[in-house]
Amino acid sequence: AWLQVPLAPPDSIFKLTAAYKADSFPQKVNLGVGAYRDDDDKPWVLPVVKKACPVSQFNATEILLNDPTLDHEYLPITGLPEFTSAAARLILGTDSPAIADGRVASVQTISGTGANHLGALFLSRFYTFNGKSQIYLSNPTWANHHAIFKNVSIEPIDYPYYDPKTIGLDFQGFISALKAAPTHSVFLLHACAHNPTGVDPNPEQWNQIAAVMLERQHYGFFDCAYQGFASGDLDKDAAAVRSFVAKGVPLLVCQSFAKNAGLYSERVGALHVVATSKEAADRVKSQLSVLQRSEISNPPSHGARLVSLILNNQGLFEEWKRDIKTMAGRIIDMRHQLHNILTNELKTPGNWDHIINQIGMFSFTGINPDQSKAIVEKAHIYLTANGRISMAGLNSHNLKYVAESLDKTVRG
Ligand code: LMR
Repeated sequence: AWLQVPLAPPDSIFKLTAAYKADSFPQKVNLGVGAYRDDDDKPWVLPVVKKACPVSQFNATEILLNDPTLDHEYLPITGLPEFTSAAARLILGTDSPAIADGRVASVQTISGTGANHLGALFLSRFYTFNGKSQIYLSNPTWANHHAIFKNVSIEPIDYPYYDPKTIGLDFQGFISALKAAPTHSVFLLHACAHNPTGVDPNPEQWNQIAAVMLERQHYGFFDCAYQGFASGDLDKDAAAVRSFVAKGVPLLVCQSFAKNAGLYSERVGALHVVATSKEAADRVKSQLSVLQRSEISNPPSHGARLVSLILNNQGLFEEWKRDIKTMAGRIIDMRHQLHNILTNELKTPGNWDHIINQIGMFSFTGINPDQSKAIVEKAHIYLTANGRISMAGLNSHNLKYVAESLDKTVRG
């Protein structure tokens, strides 16, 4: 049996983690997967989640462990209500009129990937695409976006986003694509900290994007996997989504707590569909519930309970904001140090300002696939073929080695 099943290639991101783990080279560096590491290259359990939390004197895990009322009964199909409502306030704002109007349908999902999938599935069933099931994705985007939409028979179409000449945003290309697309097209937008480039539109550019989307009646499919990681400020990183909601651009938001709460394996996320009325939101939520039932029945509880505690307890919430600043601050510091070594110490050919202009977990270095391959093979520094590096994989111990290896590669 199964003679007809072809062998699939390994995942382009997670194969790097496996190769890194198997490598015995002492100076090996993993800049592949977007997962936070501390300065000693260790995964970081946020103090608010697990360790002694200096201000509150307790942490979310401890509270859960000591709660005698908790059991392992099923959650509701659409998830833990106190989690989904707090998650909606986190991304849309505590004073969001959409929430006050009751026109947000929120469902707990299997992290951001699950939110993308459920959102895609919902669109494939209920969105009128002008006859064509298509979604416009930034070129480039997170590789998994293509697979997620293809799985539900929505065809991904690229829109211009990254300009290799400036290693920055191709804003004119992006706006032209928004104008040229048939009305009611769906555009996937990275809410902040674009993956893989680290290149985001500025607030004025977001305004122009929103204006064209309104004019063309396009639908915004926001993916928000890095709230807090771009600037260290949860509100600032939600600004694009909130302004689109305020302007009345029709949209949904996929939200992940993998990175900003360091809960990668707990798969905590939510899908928020902002509708035009409470009545429409109720109908949408009823259908999301039906889809969710056949996909996963009910979402898992542990991670959602942790995040719910953090979001709904003032002391824990303040501590979480500090933890986020610690992570974002270390990444920003690494950007400055890498930029400084390349520019001032090594005088590496080319301009490296993009490293400090880009934001969030990733930097798009601008090196080509052959150069990326050479760094992996010769220096044992693991990065994706498109030249993306996870800034969180850099630390004070490996920074110099990475900079020197980049320098050598660029000089050829
Ligand atoms: C990444 O892009 O490295 C992360 O979002 C992890 C993943 O799931 O691919």
